[in-house]
Amino acid sequence: MTISTAFTDLFGVTHPIVCGGMTRVGTPGLIAAVAETGALGFMPAHNSPSPEALVKDIGRVRDLTDQPFGVNFTILPSRNPPPWEEYMRATVDSGITAVETAGQNPEPYLPLFQGGGVKVLHKCTSVRHALKAERIGVDAVSIDGFEAAGHPGEDDVPGLVLIPALADKIAIPFIASGGFADGRGLAAALALGATGISMGTRFMCTVEAPIHENVKAGIVANDERSTNLIFRQLRNTGRYVKNGVTDEIVRVLGEGGTFEDVAHLAAGERGAIVLETGDLEAGVWCAGQTQGLIWDVPTVAELVTRIVADAEAAIDRLVGLRG
Ligand SMILES: Cc1cc2nc3c(=O)[nH]c(=O)nc-3n(C[C@H](O)[C@H](O)[C@H](O)COP(=O)(O)O)c2cc1C
Repeated sequence: MTISTAFTDLFGVTHPIVCGGMTRVGTPGLIAAVAETGALGFMPAHNSPSPEALVKDIGRVRDLTDQPFGVNFTILPSRNPPPWEEYMRATVDSGITAVETAGQNPEPYLPLFQGGGVKVLHKCTSVRHALKAERIGVDAVSIDGFEAAGHPGEDDVPGLVLIPALADKIAIPFIASGGFADGRGLAAALALGATGISMGTRFMCTVEAPIHENVKAGIVANDERSTNLIFRQLRNTGRYVKNGVTDEIVRVLGEGGTFEDVAHLAAGERGAIVLETGDLEAGVWCAGQTQGLIWDVPTVAELVTRIVADAEAAIDRLVGLRG
């Protein structure tokens, strides 16, 4: 049995399950493994150092699977932005059929994508931004609740309110992101009006995720309280794993410090060292509240199969409650 929704129809995938774009984690191997299961993985464009490298990485995924997959564009404010349009052109020319946009309004890029037959899933963290995305013509929305790893926004609205609040207002398909790790979560998201789920942290804890085993073990050992919200004072909130480094960032900014005071702690290179060497105190690294729901490191195929089966069981259980 499978669970078909407007999302699976729109994106031509088997399961209403997405692996959201993940810096340094969403490599060709992981994205191909996700695609092979019939779920939809997004490989971050910025993981590839150039548009040419992205084309090669797309080829690497294709060497491993003939199933659909997408590319994530995380367009953050930057003094020295990557050549986004070249990355986008390379994506369209490579025949990719789905992109996940995040970070800012994707309106300037929609003609390029949609003119090339690419479906656009825009990721945001509030009902108002989701409705704006619908108005400008994206194909679908992914909405991240306060539980999420990475950038949960500044509104602090968890999925239990955010998802039905959006369901009441939006006409295009949307999926729920942040706080999902199992079949109960998928069934709940569907009950609340979403047409699927997107996950980040849960996919980090799979055999195929290209990160050190200590990181996966750390997530398994952690619980739902094992995150810190950093950069709150800068209105650029990030949910990262609680460790000595994120504790220090929270302390310094809480005492009136500036970004310059903590930039050395938050450096991306230090986060990369965590994922490569497994030294969990080497820097800032990303995982969400779902750490409290993760207790093993399955293969991606085992994970997706289990989530779909458990969601079906949860739906059957609920149907069985009817008098
Ligand atoms: C290690 C890691 C890296 C991430 N990097 C990105 C990124 O580069 N771009 C992006 O749009 N989202 C990024 N995210 C957010 C995920 O795509 C997804 O929205 C989020 O993880 C959902 O919350 P969850 O972790 O509770 O499933 C990242 C998440 C993690 C865990």
